[in-house]
Amino acid sequence: MGREAASAFGRWFVLNDFPVQVELVAVCDLQEKLLEWFKQVPTVKMLTRDHMELLRSPEVDVVYVAVPHNLHEKMYLDVLNAGKDLLAEKPFGIDLKSAKVIQDAIRKTGKFVRCSSEFPFLPGPQRVIQAVNSGKLGKVLEIHSGFWHASDLDPQKPVNWKRQVKTCGEIGVMGDLGMHAVHVPFRLGWNPVRVYAQLQKIYTERPDGKGGMAPCDTWDNATLNTEVKIDGSEVPMRLEMKRLAPGETNTWFIEVLGTDGGVRYSTKEPKTLWLFERRKEQVWERIDLGHQVPFGTITGGIFETGFPDCFLQMWAAYAAERAGQLNGRFGCVTPEEAIRSHELFAAALESNAGKKVVAL
Ligand SMILES: NC(=O)c1ccc[n+]([C@@H]2O[C@H](COP(=O)([O-])OP(=O)(O)OC[C@H]3O[C@@H](n4cnc5c(N)ncnc54)[C@H](O)[C@@H]3O)[C@@H](O)[C@H]2O)c1
Repeated sequence: MGREAASAFGRWFVLNDFPVQVELVAVCDLQEKLLEWFKQVPTVKMLTRDHMELLRSPEVDVVYVAVPHNLHEKMYLDVLNAGKDLLAEKPFGIDLKSAKVIQDAIRKTGKFVRCSSEFPFLPGPQRVIQAVNSGKLGKVLEIHSGFWHASDLDPQKPVNWKRQVKTCGEIGVMGDLGMHAVHVPFRLGWNPVRVYAQLQKIYTERPDGKGGMAPCDTWDNATLNTEVKIDGSEVPMRLEMKRLAPGETNTWFIEVLGTDGGVRYSTKEPKTLWLFERRKEQVWERIDLGHQVPFGTITGGIFETGFPDCFLQMWAAYAAERAGQLNGRFGCVTPEEAIRSHELFAAALESNAGKKVVAL
């Protein structure tokens, strides 16, 4: 993810009339071959294996930390205590307790902190938000939001830190993919009041890359059946985070159905928005999307958007908000929203363990 950030900064000039300039000046990683890769970025002046050295640099104002989840708390605290602003990665600490420690440090230091979640910056999700806010959906009937991966279907895929509780966290796949599923619902004010979670561990061991096998003890798939309050009514909201979703390489989706209208978007068909309208006949309209992003760029309106584009848009949102220039546009996940996601995931663990509904 560090290299993705470098790619976003490297084409910052495509943003139209943007109020803030951004330059990648320092990089920290433990792996020599990754540090080597960053040598091709002309603005980089420091390459180090010691994050404290990076944090001592007076040229560094903002730090993006993309490391395994067990390292979030320590590194985020180091960044804040060094007086730097932070774009944190999800899940924002390995668990709820850790997220609260980070939140306390943010309060004490007063630094500007947001958490990563880039897909809502694509044109499709932005149109979903507009459709909901237009009030044209009528009474909301149900919400379905999720993020699906498929590569773990292969039992020969080697183990990594995301498949073990000690490094990924007990929340497992919810920590990996959950923020992506909750960012838009939370921003629309849809906060679960209760949850019934179905968590699955599917492959319990994987090749360790050294000829043996290693345990995989994290939750692989999570379905969170929740209820949210909308205009005084309780509405079902299903959140899905899956590492084993057949055929779904990297599918982010959301669907909101109402009595008068509906809206559906999935990165599976990245330039397609589906809009439902209850007329004399029942009509789902298919709209071809272009490059209508929250932070305008030189890219023509008819051209397609992709992952690097929404990652750049997320960084633009971070920089604009930090400079007080968000001007009503969609912003990154806030620390409060990150805490709320951890509260939901902790409740989901409790629900699954007791096979019961848990109130939030
Ligand atoms: N926003 C997204 O779409 C997205 C996608 C993938 C991962 N992530 C998140 O990003 C974070 C990292 O995930 P990843 O997939 O990039 O993992 P990764 O394993 O590919 O990268 C982690 C990097 O951290 C480095 N590292 C580990 N310990 C370190 C230390 N002490 N000092 C400096 N560097 C250290 C490793 O060498 C490695 O290069 C996680 O929080 C993950 O949930 C976000």
